[in-house]
Amino acid sequence: MEIKANKLTDTYTLNNNVQIPVIGFGTWQSADGEEAYNAVKWALEAGYRHIDTAAAYGNEESVGQAIKDSGVKREDLFVTTKLWNYQRDNYENSLRGFHDSITRLGLDYVDLYLIHWPEPIEYRDHWQSLNADSWRAMEKIYKDGKTRAIGVSNFREKHIDELMKTAEIAPMVNQIFLNPGDQEKDLVTYNKNHNILTEAYSPLGTGNLLDNPELKKLADKHGVDVAQILIRWNLEKGYLPLPKSTHQKYIESNKKVFSFQLDYDDHKTLDALDGQGKQHTDPYEHNFQKVVPFLNN
Ligand code: A2P
Repeated sequence: MEIKANKLTDTYTLNNNVQIPVIGFGTWQSADGEEAYNAVKWALEAGYRHIDTAAAYGNEESVGQAIKDSGVKREDLFVTTKLWNYQRDNYENSLRGFHDSITRLGLDYVDLYLIHWPEPIEYRDHWQSLNADSWRAMEKIYKDGKTRAIGVSNFREKHIDELMKTAEIAPMVNQIFLNPGDQEKDLVTYNKNHNILTEAYSPLGTGNLLDNPELKKLADKHGVDVAQILIRWNLEKGYLPLPKSTHQKYIESNKKVFSFQLDYDDHKTLDALDGQGKQHTDPYEHNFQKVVPFLNN
């Protein structure tokens, strides 16, 4: 299928008219220090201008350092970070969480700020008021010009419905675990109907889809690799993929998704993979607390 974008820096338009580059560089599971630093450095050298991080990833300092050292002009970059659970027990702490993130990043503002997780286990009995308070903080940060857009991540339909009861400003983005193995058809339709851009983290199924034999056949047919097929699938669906890699060669190849198109049969093959990948993490059951031990205290 044809798409409008034909390079990394082409953009989607958010519901507040902010332009967001169609592919973002993911940093979830890139360790703080050399690994995250080099990954972001290589991504910026390769021409990525959209970088996605989070307080919970524990790598904001390295990401920020790589941005600083790259010499890329701030206004040419699109940087996303996210508010983590332990700093959103109330409105004031949510504001503090943002301040801590931009301090670690070494930035004056970000381009997109997201509530990372809708139902933290420790606040399970009052997630509705918790999200309303955090959202009020997000709106304040947005109105103060400290972020150019605001949104949510891992939110299901019911979380957004609930948020909208008290929100003054609707979310611009919902970032979810999304790839052909877990297509979230109802949720992406919901996002679209609410003018919320769907961003896909783990567009490669955290790597789990890369050995799929059907995808290998498709990749051979187009003379590309499986990762490129998966990233292209996201774009053709109108989603914004955030592929993550710590290898320069993958960072380079993952951007080469503009010189081929998937046809009707390819889409049929990809659509049939729904349910076969590693599935999204249920926000009710999980918290990611274990993967961010430094944030547990
Ligand atoms: P690595 O970080 O070691 O380079 P996702 O974006 O779905 O979370 O997937 C990320 C995983 O896929 C990581 O393990 C990453 O490895 C791997 N990966 C990223 N790009 C490629 C690629 N082009 N070929 C093979 N593996 C890749």
